Amino acid sequence: MTSEFKYEKNGLIIDYKHMMKPLNSSKFAISSSDLKEKSYLFNDMGAYIEERRRSGELGFMDLPYDLKQVDEIESLVESKRSIMDNLLVLGIGGSALGNIAINNALNDPFNSTYTNGNYPRIFVEDNIDPDRIHSLFEHIDWKRTVVNVITKSGTTPETMATFFIAKKIMQEKMGEDYRKHIVVTTDPEKGVLRRHAVEEGFDILNIPRNVGGRFSVLSPVGLFSACSSGIDLGELLRGAREMDTECKASDFYHNPAYLIAAMKYSAYMHGIRINVLMPYSSLLKAFSQWYCQLIGESLGKKDDLDGKICFHGITPVSSSGTTDQHSQLQLYVEGPEDKLIIFLFVGNHKSVVPIYDRELPDELSYFRGRSLNDLIISEGKGTSLSLLESGRLNFEIMIDEISPYSIGGLFYLFEMVTLIMGRLLNINAFDQPGVDRSKILTREFLRRKKV
Ligand code: PA5
Repeated sequence: MTSEFKYEKNGLIIDYKHMMKPLNSSKFAISSSDLKEKSYLFNDMGAYIEERRRSGELGFMDLPYDLKQVDEIESLVESKRSIMDNLLVLGIGGSALGNIAINNALNDPFNSTYTNGNYPRIFVEDNIDPDRIHSLFEHIDWKRTVVNVITKSGTTPETMATFFIAKKIMQEKMGEDYRKHIVVTTDPEKGVLRRHAVEEGFDILNIPRNVGGRFSVLSPVGLFSACSSGIDLGELLRGAREMDTECKASDFYHNPAYLIAAMKYSAYMHGIRINVLMPYSSLLKAFSQWYCQLIGESLGKKDDLDGKICFHGITPVSSSGTTDQHSQLQLYVEGPEDKLIIFLFVGNHKSVVPIYDRELPDELSYFRGRSLNDLIISEGKGTSLSLLESGRLNFEIMIDEISPYSIGGLFYLFEMVTLIMGRLLNINAFDQPGVDRSKILTREFLRRKKV
């Protein structure tokens, strides 16, 4: 269903009325005719995507349909259950952020501090800070831990370093038995890790050749840790599949990916090149960090597809409602007019927490009969209105609840938006030469006599 400036389907609402002529009629406001004009850019988008998908370039779009991976992951997880009180994931960038986002959204918020029922505590280590790694590796009970080392290239220095440190400790503690505590997730053919894993006889999960790091969350990269912690993989993938169907709609106003991409693109062409993603849920904080990598690495490019220097890019910012209302919001409302704020609301939180109101002073009477749930959504709506009043572009995405289905759909939606933005900007959204260069230089520093 779609009403004016609103898309609504399968528990997802995109409300973009605040993109249209903000009250102070900022010079950057998008008008309906502006959006209509942009919709023409999408006339051949479906055909373009389909063609690239068929040619095998867009492997991430096949992941929601790959149910064989689910069977493989589920049986591997089952085989590890008896030794897995902890799951330690070692990876970085696209090999970690999706895991963190899923774990943050769908598992108990204190999973790693207390317990997660019958499921393991999850640790995703995506940095090489010596103090943190030392402390974790000192305290973790290795005999009750499974290590999932994830790297598509099989060569990333951070991941390889922490893995070999962990491996040595495990060998010392468990002798030959250590092998069954390791699961390697990597490219099906290439990389030094793959070679090593085959030689050692570790369990291996393949990341499809045509799926790159930041688009790999719905592959074994994100699914092994999700399955280990009891998350329903079928639902995650069903959410993504149904989103795929929605993202194929040829009618611009009924296609959530087209709508979001058009708004971002319009803002971008008006010079608004910072996108803030502001979820009003602590459980979606890591989702916005995953989004930052997706947007930052995919769209930040020096050259366009015709080889011309373009210096394109959207600067992504992760902001948390309500916390950052008391930190960054002043800047968003009154600072430079260079930001598009995207709210991410949750219709029904898992818990309802009434505010105790029997002894409330009169000044706080507005809390009577209210819950934290009423407060958080009122804060979000109030913030979006305050931005509108000062002529700042913003729009709202609302999911009805945080579930494997909705999270699978959200991942897929933002991946599609990124693919489309890449086409609109005429850049390659799937490479990362800037990141690769820094990996090369890191190795060079380490080969020198003195770092
Ligand atoms: O999106 C990407 O390709 C990168 O961010 C990678 O995920 C990151 O550099 C880690 O690479 P790898 O998975 O090869 O270790």
